[in-house]
Order: sequence, then structure tokens, then C-alpha cells
Amino acid sequence: MNKLTFFACFFLLSRLCAMDSFFEFKENKSDGSLSPGFIKKLIFTFHPDTFFETGTYDGNTTLNAAKFFDRVITVEIYKPLFDYVQPKFASHSNIHSYLGSSSKVIANIGNELRGTTLFWLDAHYSGEGTGMSDSVNSGSAEAITAIREELAAIHAAAIEDCVILIDDIRGFGTEIAGQVFLGCWAYPTLQEVKSALLKINPQFEIALLGDMLLAYDESKYQPRFSTTVEACTKTRLYDGYNLSQQELLDWEKKIRQAPPHEAACIARLYQMMTGYNDPMFWHDLWYGLTQMGTNNYNKASIAFQKVPNRIQAGTFRTNTLSPVSYEHESLKTYIEECTGK
Ligand SMILES: C[S@@+](CC[C@H](N)C(=O)[O-])C[C@H]1O[C@@H](n2cnc3c(N)ncnc32)[C@H](O)[C@@H]1O
Repeated sequence: MNKLTFFACFFLLSRLCAMDSFFEFKENKSDGSLSPGFIKKLIFTFHPDTFFETGTYDGNTTLNAAKFFDRVITVEIYKPLFDYVQPKFASHSNIHSYLGSSSKVIANIGNELRGTTLFWLDAHYSGEGTGMSDSVNSGSAEAITAIREELAAIHAAAIEDCVILIDDIRGFGTEIAGQVFLGCWAYPTLQEVKSALLKINPQFEIALLGDMLLAYDESKYQPRFSTTVEACTKTRLYDGYNLSQQELLDWEKKIRQAPPHEAACIARLYQMMTGYNDPMFWHDLWYGLTQMGTNNYNKASIAFQKVPNRIQAGTFRTNTLSPVSYEHESLKTYIEECTGK
């Protein structure tokens, strides 16, 4: 091999390696399970030793993870589902399947974990034929998601050496300048999740990858993110104080320029959460921005008009519906730009 070919190969290889740690704002699942390609990318970037899944469901993510990990732990609270997956796991000695509440299993076996653990936190009630947490007033709305207990259990077990992926971020609420916009059912705000994560490891950095949240130790890893990931993370974690209005505007400008495949992911979130009873206005705003970016002013204007007119249910979705409004400073300008006024 001559020198030129050697350097060309070296350059190509280093580009390929860099690409592997590049995360975009897109769907990282196929048929509802974490895709093998995404799992490989996580392994390449974070070198985890153990995959720890909460909420086994049909076991498909577990089986995908078992292709790459020496140790896969999965926990399911609903016995019929636990029984259903046992034959699927029978020939996989690297899968350790537990029946029980995810936080209790984390507490029980947390001290046996060695090296880096990749947590896939996905335990929540998913309709008929699935279970819910039994440790908080069983049957209450709060039992729907195990996320608070799971993060507290990881912290209590001092599992600092971990990377955490949390699913279904579209259902989480937000808090801006002291005003709480509730998520679905009893889902916490992202600000509450962030402080629970920082208790586990103060070096955690957070990124939103479509509908998932990724938390990793920024002193150890250097993943790279698309501009859309950065912009959606900054805006979704905006708490009224951590960005100036100009910075917020600048990040929103970047969402306007999202490439088609990332804009498609935003459109999916918008379609999933466009009910006015789900006060997650960010998806409406992001969608409006991407539509502006492609000159679809009518669609953009419809989306923007949803932002300040939300209805939310009481805490834990128990009682009355009340109007809730997010007074976004640039909204009027965006709408005027769309309607030509
Ligand atoms: C969305 S599904 C999980 C999907 C699966 N992780 C995957 O990637 O394909 C959620 C599952 O969590 C289970 N679940 C709910 N609360 C739980 C808890 N506290 N502990 C363990 N599993 C729980 C439900 O029974 C349901 O099967």
C-alpha cells in the first residue's frame, strides 16, 4: 500500500468512526424496539458492559441487546408478560430476566453491577395487558410511570458509572419561570428528571434524541450531536432562566433549518401530542418552525396558534381541566411572519 492509499484509508476510517458517535434527532426504534443499529452506536460511543432494561414487554429490545452484550438484565412487573418472554429467552444465557418492580430490582442487584451500565428506562403502564408500579398507591395515576422511583433507586445504589436512556419524553412536563406545565398523567417535568439525574452523577450532560433522553458523563465521553438535537435539547430544557430570549431565538432559528429526516421526527411528535389537553407546546412550536423553514406558512401558523391555548388536567390527571398558557415572546412575530401581517 502506498503512502497516499494509506492516508486515504486512515482518513476514511476515522470519518467512519466519527460518524458512529454522531447522534441525530430521529426515531431510534424499529417495530417499537431499540434498533440494533442504535444499540451498536451506543456501544461504540459509551463502551457499556451491561444493558439494563426496565419494562420487558415482548422482549424484542432485550433480544436485540443480547446480540451485543455479555450481560442483559430486564425487569417486568406484569407476570403474564414475564411468563410470555421466558421461552424466547431460554437459549440466551446472557439474559437475566426478573419479575418485579424495576426500582426494587435495581435496589436488590445494583451493587452487583460491574463496569459501565447502560440503562434503558422504559417501565410504564402501556394499556391493557401490561402492568404498573405497585409501590406507590397501586392503581393511582402516579403508578403509571416508574421513572421517579427508578432514578431514586439508581442514586441510592450509587451506580454513578452509567449511561441512561429514558423513553417517551413526549409525555414529560416542563417548568418555565416557576409555572408548571404538566406532562401526561403523572409524568414528571423534565426539570425534575434533570435534577434526579444530576444527583446520580453531577457530570451528566443531557441530549434529546427524538422521543428519548440520553444522559452521559461528559467528562468521559465525547458523542457528537446534530444541530437539531442541540437546539431541541436547549429549548425543551428551557426553564425561563437558563437562556436569554436572544439565545432561545437563536436555537429556534436552527430548528427552522432541520434537515428533512429530523423534521420528520418532529412532525411525528407533533402529530402524537397535538391534543390541546397535552400541554406540551414545544412540539407545536418546533413543528411550526420546521414548516416555516420550508415555506409551509399555513401549517406553521396552525401549529403556532396551538402554543398559547392549552388545557391541562389537574395534578396526576385526577380532576378538572383548566386553561394554561405559555407566553412565548417570539410567537406573535412568528405568526405575523406566517400570515404576512
Ligand atoms: C413500553 S413497555 C416496554 C417496552 C420494552 N422496553 C421495549 O423496548 O420493547 C413498558 C412495560 O413496562 C412494564 N412496567 C410497568 N411498570 C413497571 C415497573 N414498575 N417495573 C417493571 N416493569 C413495569 C409494563 O408492564 C410494560 O410491559
